[in-house]
Amino acid sequence: MSADRTGFERALRDARLLITAGSGGVGKTTTAAAIGLRAAQAGRRVAVLTIDPARRLADALGLSELTGELRQVDPTHFEAAGFACAGEMWAMMLDIKTTGDQMVRRFAPDAETAARILDNTYYQYFSTSLAGAQEYMAVEQVRTLTADERFDLVVLDTPPAAHALDFLDAPDRLLAALDSRAMQVLRGGSDADDGLAARLLGRGKGLVLKSLNKLTGGPFIEELTDFLLLFGSILDALKVSSRSVQALLRAETTRFFLVSAPYRANVDEAVHFKEQLDRRGFPLGGFIINRVHHPCPWIKDDVETLAHALDELADVPLARREALVTRMLAALKAHQRMAERDREAVDRLARLNHGPPVLVPLLPQDVRDLRGLDRVARSLTA
Ligand SMILES: Nc1ncnc2c1ncn2[C@@H]1O[C@H](COP(=O)(O)OP(=O)(O)O)[C@@H](O)[C@H]1O
Ligand SMILES: [Mg+2]
Repeated sequence: MSADRTGFERALRDARLLITAGSGGVGKTTTAAAIGLRAAQAGRRVAVLTIDPARRLADALGLSELTGELRQVDPTHFEAAGFACAGEMWAMMLDIKTTGDQMVRRFAPDAETAARILDNTYYQYFSTSLAGAQEYMAVEQVRTLTADERFDLVVLDTPPAAHALDFLDAPDRLLAALDSRAMQVLRGGSDADDGLAARLLGRGKGLVLKSLNKLTGGPFIEELTDFLLLFGSILDALKVSSRSVQALLRAETTRFFLVSAPYRANVDEAVHFKEQLDRRGFPLGGFIINRVHHPCPWIKDDVETLAHALDELADVPLARREALVTRMLAALKAHQRMAERDREAVDRLARLNHGPPVLVPLLPQDVRDLRGLDRVARSLTA
């Protein structure tokens, strides 16, 4: 799959995981949803995982009152919005806060162990402070979905650029943390060594623990050892899953699309992000430039509106009509200037990626319903 438009169309058709990334507000969530819709329109069964959809888009996707639950967009809503959709579109809001708990439930050997881990003070600390643990859990959810036979394609939206890297590095970092010396000392090595946790617990009824508890003023150590032993039961499962998430992010059927607005700062950030992806061996699908000014704004509807407007101005004194036309021309020129500036961004990213980026025009209003999303979706493959 290459970087140009044909490559994009091929990715929509063949990829198993597509990821949108870019700086804040450029349109990652919107394009992720539009990519999902486009693939669903082509007949695929798609699950879109969004991070922070604008309220109205969430409503349009049927995500208004639910978080962390996957829901199918009602097919009659597509018809109501004026288009057909041969496939299926599902959407879900990634809830980074609760995915950790879900993961403990999934990986723990039994319900009782899961409950004890979730209640443990150290788990609460661990799940919020271990390097990238929460982000990891969110990515882990993506892996679960890509393995789900109900879907042909998963589209993942990411947090703004800086955090997106945390997010994508999470499996590597978690794996490094699990393999670290400190973790081994706590958990114990593979054979002879029992690990600090087991040894502390072994002397649990003894002097060491009693005096430690006295020192710390409470049963902290007992709770810590308990946590380490319990959590140890899921660490191995966690390691296996981190490895497959690592592999998934770099798979032949995965593609990253870097979304940018046509402003220099956003383009700079997209270029930087591309370097970061390359360095990590994450496969770039291409660039999407969102909110592009079309070089010729006088599309048919506008010309008609304008003609009607001028008709209504027939009785207006000539000097006022001239003033109006002058203002209109100034607006047109300003628009053309922006279109030229956008052209620079397009050319720059085209050179960098050896192929033209995918362009999404600036729409007259926010993308807040399926009709708007369909406009974005159609422009992706126009
Ligand atoms: N092509 C576009 N034309 C008009 N509005 C857009 C376009 N793309 C996105 N928007 C609007 O811009 C806002 C930010 O988009 P969003 O996708 O949430 O950005 P991000 O996820 O990158 O923060 C939303 O209100 C969205 O409806
Ligand atoms: Mg977003």
